[in-house]
Amino acid sequence: MTTKIPEVSSLVQEAAAAFTSQYGGQPSVAVAAPGRVNIIGEHTDYNDGFVFPMALPMVTVIVGRKTESGLCRVKTLTDKADKPFEVEFPAPSSSKPLQPSKPSWANYIKGVVTCFPGVVSGFDAVVTSSVPLGGGLSSSAALEVATYTFLEALTGTKAKSLKDKALVCQKAEHDFASVPCGIMDQFISTMGKKGNALLIDCRSLESNLVPLSDPNVTFVIINSNVRHTLSGTEYPTRRRQCHDAAHTLGKTSLRDATLQDLEKHKGSLSEEVYHRARHAISEIQRTEEAVEVLKKGDYTAFGKMMTDSHNSLRDDYEVSCPELDQLVTIATECPGVYGSRMTGGGFGGCTVTLVKRENVDDLIHHTQECYTGKATFYVCQPAEGAQVLSL
Ligand code: GLA
Repeated sequence: MTTKIPEVSSLVQEAAAAFTSQYGGQPSVAVAAPGRVNIIGEHTDYNDGFVFPMALPMVTVIVGRKTESGLCRVKTLTDKADKPFEVEFPAPSSSKPLQPSKPSWANYIKGVVTCFPGVVSGFDAVVTSSVPLGGGLSSSAALEVATYTFLEALTGTKAKSLKDKALVCQKAEHDFASVPCGIMDQFISTMGKKGNALLIDCRSLESNLVPLSDPNVTFVIINSNVRHTLSGTEYPTRRRQCHDAAHTLGKTSLRDATLQDLEKHKGSLSEEVYHRARHAISEIQRTEEAVEVLKKGDYTAFGKMMTDSHNSLRDDYEVSCPELDQLVTIATECPGVYGSRMTGGGFGGCTVTLVKRENVDDLIHHTQECYTGKATFYVCQPAEGAQVLSL
């Protein structure tokens, strides 16, 4: 009923076998980087605010071997990727900068190869992943961070710090995928810790682990299995609207603004920008408060804030969609559910629900009965960030 999450070791085996048949011989390096689910703090990272994600047991694995050929050859085993599944591009040199092109999955790799601070002479690699593509669980950040970790292992050039590593991967996404994303996804994929969620202050880039180890409760991720095309164009628009609102309020970012400041300037903002800012300001505050109540074990208060977050994303930020709203409504009708919300950028993808462990099956059954689409379910504990694996 729930989706079985493949073991990392079986992904490595699958990739290593594909490597041998594609390139001959054995890979010398294997790495993994996880996807993420954001528990609360949505569309706050690019407003210098707080986010509260955890790393998932679904990962992107890369196996490969260094070459001196001056070529980077990569094959993906992800069948939902756009074709062709094999690419070849020159190792970066100042005379020939790499450009984004088709297939789009390879752009995340090219972006990281270009931004990587060490010397890349060439490699052969195979990529595989258990992070659902386009599900709002950061399959792109997982691929970027896996690529960076792979290059570190291949070249021996380590990032100065994990923050630097996350920032380089974010830049790769900006430059090669044209998505002006915040720092959350790359940060948690790099720094996630098993058994913990991470409260990240996206202004200072300080972060604090928050243990999530109570066996009586769990987070269930439900994939709506829809992705509306709006997601590409609406994200930069939201980001710009927040920036404009901060400017009108005379603040560096909405992190510095209060709801009182917003009300004072209401007359100088369009109706739409007012609502966008109201979400961002309230969500930053809600995230800090939510983590405090969670630390005290007050799941009722925490769950209510998750649902408030969803309502704000739906009504003020307008990044939800009917399928996500339906999943949240269905979840909140179930016994043992504390709260539920959409997670990630929006316009489709997944919801995240906090539920008593004894009621997980009720939640799944009720959703299967009532959701008009076809949902998939992941019951996940917080997992480890990017790692080099043994072969
Ligand atoms: C996407 C971006 C993140 C963040 C979320 C919304 O996942 O990559 O940086 O802005 O949307 O919270």
